[in-house]
Amino acid sequence: MSEMLHSSLQPDLRRAILEEASQQTEPATYESYLGERLEVENAIVDFSRNHGEGTAWTYSTGDYRDRYVPNLHPSSGSLSGMELLWTKQLDRALKAKGDQPVVLLDFGGGMGFSAMRVASQPIYKKAIQDRRLVVAVSNLGFMPQDEPDADGYTKIARLMQADNQARRFTPQPYTEQDLRFVQDNQNLVTFVDASVLELYNDTSSAPVPLKNNIDILHESRALTHTQVPDIALATFAGLLSPGGVLYLDVRRMSGLRGDAIDLADGRTVTIDEKYREQRELSLEVGLSLLPRMGVVPTSEQPGTKTYVRHT
Ligand SMILES: C[S@@+](CC[C@H](N)C(=O)[O-])C[C@H]1O[C@@H](n2cnc3c(N)ncnc32)[C@H](O)[C@@H]1O
Repeated sequence: MSEMLHSSLQPDLRRAILEEASQQTEPATYESYLGERLEVENAIVDFSRNHGEGTAWTYSTGDYRDRYVPNLHPSSGSLSGMELLWTKQLDRALKAKGDQPVVLLDFGGGMGFSAMRVASQPIYKKAIQDRRLVVAVSNLGFMPQDEPDADGYTKIARLMQADNQARRFTPQPYTEQDLRFVQDNQNLVTFVDASVLELYNDTSSAPVPLKNNIDILHESRALTHTQVPDIALATFAGLLSPGGVLYLDVRRMSGLRGDAIDLADGRTVTIDEKYREQRELSLEVGLSLLPRMGVVPTSEQPGTKTYVRHT
């Protein structure tokens, strides 16, 4: 993907964000930091693509059976936790959407274990094969590789096998059955390398248009890493289909490594206290923007924030 594509913030989103920010803070300062945060975000996107950060996360399995025990064996156990909420929404959307494909996106979904586990259920597998359902997982700077290893494993299964020796992702090694399960089902999931701006601008490699079209949008331990949670949340609102459901895990922003970020044009942005405060504030702005964009909280799941886009 071209490095130029991800840099632009659409005017409609900018307007909505600045309007909301002006209710909470001094608009000119917010706008100037918004520009700076966007530049830092783009620098991080470039860095991630050049250095392949996508596999380096501590929590990277995308397994949402239990928020606090992320490293489960993907092949074992029936669907539970968030997976069951997804299936409830999938069933609703498959009924409601008729011939139009239903779309589930796990934003920053790592290795996509829950996505695979849901996609492998016969009813959803058939819908994917009939092109009535797209189950997608986005990551930044990471696309699973098609080339097989010596044992014939590709993509995520290859990564699991390679990492199993180092015992990084799981205290217990993945079993042969886990590797087989992932090898057999990973192609049901579409992996997308995308920043939030690319998702909104439809310049990601997603197989269907995403704007107004995502029926289930989920994030866990992902939004917290962006520099632009306000843009991300406004984007999420713009991506949801009418009636679409959004699951948010984010509570506050994660820290940044280092005190300065080098931009592509040679300038350096200092990550000081003020920058961090503004980034934290931008999460609040993004969260309060959601209802203004028609995406309202529901009480479906205690612990995870759940929203639905009103039609
Ligand atoms: C800690 S992992 C979480 C993985 C998975 N959701 C889980 O809980 O197991 C963070 C995820 O967010 C993605 N990510 C981090 N920063 C991002 C950014 N600025 N834009 C888009 N995705 C980002 C990473 O590629 C990764 O998939």
